[in-house]
Amino acid sequence: MTTSNKQILLAEKPTDKLSVDHFKLSEGPMPAAGDGEVLCRTLIISQDAANRAWMQGKTYRDEIGAGQVMAGGVLAEVVQSNDAKFSPGDLVEADGGWQEYFAKPAKELQKRSPHDPLTNLLSVLGVTGKTAYFGLLKIGDPQPGETVVVSAAAGAVGNVVGQIAKIKGARTVGIAGGAEKCNWLTSELGFDAAIDYREENLFQALKEKCPDGIDVYFDNVGGDILGAVLFRMNMHGRIACCGAVSQYDTGNPAPGPRGVPGLLVTKRLKMQGFIVMDYYKELEKAEADLTQWVNEGKLKVVEDVLDGIESAPEGLVGLLAGKNRGKRMIRVAEPSS
Ligand SMILES: NC(=O)c1ccc[n+]([C@@H]2O[C@H](COP(=O)([O-])OP(=O)(O)OC[C@H]3O[C@@H](n4cnc5c(N)ncnc54)[C@H](OP(=O)(O)O)[C@@H]3O)[C@@H](O)[C@H]2O)c1
Repeated sequence: MTTSNKQILLAEKPTDKLSVDHFKLSEGPMPAAGDGEVLCRTLIISQDAANRAWMQGKTYRDEIGAGQVMAGGVLAEVVQSNDAKFSPGDLVEADGGWQEYFAKPAKELQKRSPHDPLTNLLSVLGVTGKTAYFGLLKIGDPQPGETVVVSAAAGAVGNVVGQIAKIKGARTVGIAGGAEKCNWLTSELGFDAAIDYREENLFQALKEKCPDGIDVYFDNVGGDILGAVLFRMNMHGRIACCGAVSQYDTGNPAPGPRGVPGLLVTKRLKMQGFIVMDYYKELEKAEADLTQWVNEGKLKVVEDVLDGIESAPEGLVGLLAGKNRGKRMIRVAEPSS
């Protein structure tokens, strides 16, 4: 077995837009598993918009500091285990970071069953698919015939939200950057309409494409898009606050949309934030439903896989600039069997 461990460090914290120059490739020592720990080999790194938010300060996890291995969810294979629950060859999901090998306490690992293709374990059956599933169904609760709007609709979480909304019989409108992504949402993924937020006047476009108003908004972006959607919400509408990607990759986050309290009151809106882990006691049901929809051909899995750990910095910078379609991942190594 190799004795070195390729790692990508966050060399410097960005004060404004993230660039590849904020990262540094490094060769660290091979980690060893201590008592109760498990040594793992990274197979696939998940790239998430939230990776950038983790550089801004403490969130639901610790802030990533300069000089640290870049944090990130991974799918990995157990190499050696000092815990009875794990054996070599097991597949696990963990916050392993951007590195080829890591050792972690067993309680920080989630065992995963083999799946073909493996990438699905981080996309539709990973945090991405479950975030879409729980946020939409638990908070949005879309009813047949209602209008659901989702932002960052061509991204990892957003495309799954739109497709589940269709499965639930809702009229679905996606907001995304660029005509190409918008055409793809309607022609390939079954969205009823799409809005290019970069080119179109949002207030006008929402009026035209949501003629009956909006009942559910799945908010991935915050900022001005949230502000515009709020004005088009129907009475008793629901807003699932999933994230605020428009505010992550900047040194100057916007103060937030105006008039929110008044609109919430007069329209009797429910606006709720969530973190996917809040619903993990219902993980099995989510995985079963998502698997069934994929197998029935009702839910298309959209993956955007780059090869080699060295491509991770460019992958994340590109994701924040909208270069991805669906779930972006970095394939680091093939499983041993
Ligand atoms: N609450 C939770 O538990 C949870 C879990 C996972 C993810 N999330 C959240 O889900 C959201 C989506 O994350 P993801 O990892 O799936 O990323 P993603 O949607 O695959 O990628 C981010 C997308 O955001 C769009 N974007 C970037 N800047 C934007 C801006 N200023 N305004 C509007 N859109 C912009 C880009 O697409 P365009 O080309 O369309 O601009 C880009 O493709 C994020 O807010 C993330 O924090 C939350």
